[in-house]
Amino acid sequence: MALDPLLKKVNWLDSEDVRPYVFVRPENQINTPGIRHRLGWFIEKAIVKNPLHLEELPFAEQIYFIENAAFGPSAMPMPRWVFYDCAVMPGFVSGFAYRTEKLPAALKKILPLQKNAEWTPLSLFIINPTMHKGEWVAHNLCSVNSLLPKADQFYGLGFLSKAFGLWYANVDQCTGMTQWGGPALKLHSHYGHLEVIGAYAPVHSYAKTITYRAKVDTHNWEQFFTREPDLAFLEKFEPTQIEIDPQNENSMIDLQYRIQKNEGPFYLSAGEIASKALNEKLRIYRMKSNY
Ligand SMILES: CC(C)(COP(=O)(O)OP(=O)(O)OC[C@H]1O[C@@H](n2cnc3c(N)ncnc32)[C@H](O)[C@@H]1OP(=O)(O)O)[C@@H](O)C(=O)NCCC(=O)NCCS
Repeated sequence: MALDPLLKKVNWLDSEDVRPYVFVRPENQINTPGIRHRLGWFIEKAIVKNPLHLEELPFAEQIYFIENAAFGPSAMPMPRWVFYDCAVMPGFVSGFAYRTEKLPAALKKILPLQKNAEWTPLSLFIINPTMHKGEWVAHNLCSVNSLLPKADQFYGLGFLSKAFGLWYANVDQCTGMTQWGGPALKLHSHYGHLEVIGAYAPVHSYAKTITYRAKVDTHNWEQFFTREPDLAFLEKFEPTQIEIDPQNENSMIDLQYRIQKNEGPFYLSAGEIASKALNEKLRIYRMKSNY
């Protein structure tokens, strides 16, 4: 695949044994994949599978295995009916897969092998279109990296799984939910400047959930790997005195009330999140008044 030489950290993507996959029922297929965002990263043809075909059950079982193992520690494994009712039927499921017969030993050790399946999924990204034209909701993201020792991981697998789905499905605006203090914010903040549209969500199983929205912008994507400063962000946004402390629910409730009082919009800085440990406080930003 044509990744910039700067992105050598993800050499696994060049392997002929790794391909992006799309697990989408025919009616939900994207007619013209990858035309909205200019990006040369995913030139390899995606494996397209129909989740409603009985022959594809082994692939679905493997997706369930990764998902349930990845979300097990946070007690949020996806029930089968949720995958079917809230992903396969309304939306778009994608990720990366490895040619089963070439699977590295580290993967063979942790994955239940389906010998007859040509491809074994390594990651999962689910996104659903909404009633609000152009806006999609990211519903699930996980990668086999969370199950592997560091030395055997595929660096960037989670990040590139979401990147591939957003690119392939021509997503303009991506809304999503994740937990404050979780590793996923490091990824989610890089697909476009991230606005906090909800800082506290007691309606969710986990109240310490951030709800975010980003206008998808591929300019930010390379910075996930290069760590170069996002000059466009620095030009447009300034820090406020507000901070979110992942350990302090009150900081989330305070920001939630500010959002409800229309004091925002409020943003997070991807560069700052990348430089911090998961339990550190995060600064809230707002648009500069002269912008
Ligand atoms: C969160 C998740 C999708 C990330 O995918 P991944 O393939 O592990 O991550 P990537 O290789 O794309 O990105 C690597 C970066 O994320 C960071 N990261 C990933 N998991 C991390 C963790 N548990 N703690 C701290 N940082 C973590 C890495 O340190 C790395 O950043 P660095 O370059 O600063 O070191 C994956 O860990 C996962 O499946 N977790 C369980 C399910 C989950 O929480 N999903 C998110 C729901 S919103």
